[in-house]
Formats: sequence, structure tokens, C-alpha cells
Amino acid sequence: MSRRMWVLTAAALVPVVAVGCASMRKMKPEEAIEARQKLMKEQGEAWKQIQEKTKAGDVAAVVPEAEKLVQTSKEIPRLFPEGSLDPKKSAAKPEIWAKWSDFESAAKNLQTQSEKLRDTAKTGNAAATQQVVQTFGRQACGTCHTPFRVPPKQS
Ligand code: HEC
Repeated sequence: MSRRMWVLTAAALVPVVAVGCASMRKMKPEEAIEARQKLMKEQGEAWKQIQEKTKAGDVAAVVPEAEKLVQTSKEIPRLFPEGSLDPKKSAAKPEIWAKWSDFESAAKNLQTQSEKLRDTAKTGNAAATQQVVQTFGRQACGTCHTPFRVPPKQS
């Protein structure tokens, strides 16, 4: 390969490597806040779908939404790097970092509960699914929101 080709090849590879590192490094606070609020909105949407589908008796449609919660729950701790606190932009409480292992357990709890919901919905048993859904909001989402999130204003 000519010297010129080498230079061009190297130049083409640099951005690839840079992007690879960007996703590995610790996120800036504002990036983390934006990313986790986006993730939480997706969870909110999935949860809304789960409730609607359950009510409609369409438990098969609950399965992919519950799976979405399983997957997104694994992302939660990574999106709360230490110091990503901003009372103006974020509802995250400082308790998250003071009680980090509790916070991690709450994320893990969401994963376990979502797996349970997904597996129950998979059986096609509408009554059993309904029963899991009934307590899910409080047990899976609320156990983290209550200690770790500033409650949203009632509108
Ligand atoms: C491990 C903790 C944890 C769990 C579990 C959790 N959340 Fe959250 N959630 C938070 C925190 C902390 C915030 C505030 C984030 C911020 O503003 O920086 C939040 C914010 C939100 C928001 C507001 C997003 C916005 O800014 O518009 C919604 C909606 C939401 N969560 C839905 C859910 C739902 C639905 C579940 C359960 C399926 C859930 N969350 C489970 C910690 C959690």
C-alpha cells in the first residue's frame, strides 16, 4: 500500500475509534440527565401500554413492552454518574449517591419485576397478568421514585 493510502486509511479510522471511546467514558452530567429522562419517558410509555393492553385483555401485547422495561432497567445505574445533580433540570435526589447500593437494588428490582410480568404475560393468563399489573406501579417503579425522585407537580 502506498504511503498516501496509509494516511487516508488511518484518517478514516480515527472517527470510528473516537466514537467507540465516547460511549465508554463517563458521561457529562447534562448528557446523563438528558439520556435518563429520555429513558424514563420510554419506560413511562411502556408502562402506559402495559396497563392499556391488560385492560383490553390483550396480554400477548404486554410481553414486548415488559421486555422493554427489562432491557431499560439495566441501563439505569449507568445514567446516574456521581455529580449529575441539577435541581433545575433534574428530579434526581442526592440520596441516590448517598445510598448508591439501595439505588442499584431498586433498578435490579425493576428488572426482576418486569421479568415476572413478561413471563406471566407469556403464559397468556389474563387474570394472572392483571394481578401482577395491579401492584407493579407501586412495587417496581414506586420503590425507586419514592426515595430517589422529587415528586412531579400535580397538574
Ligand atoms: C432505580 C430507580 C428508578 C426506577 C426503578 C424507575 N425510575 Fe422513573 N425516575 C427515576 C429518577 C431518579 C427520575 C428523575 C430523573 C431526572 O430527572 O434526572 C425518574 C423519572 C421518571 C419519569 C419522568 C421523566 C421526565 O423527566 O420526563 C418518568 C415518566 C418515569 N420516571 C417513569 C418510570 C416508570 C414507569 C418506571 C417503572 C416501570 C420507573 N420510572 C422506574 C428513578 C427510577
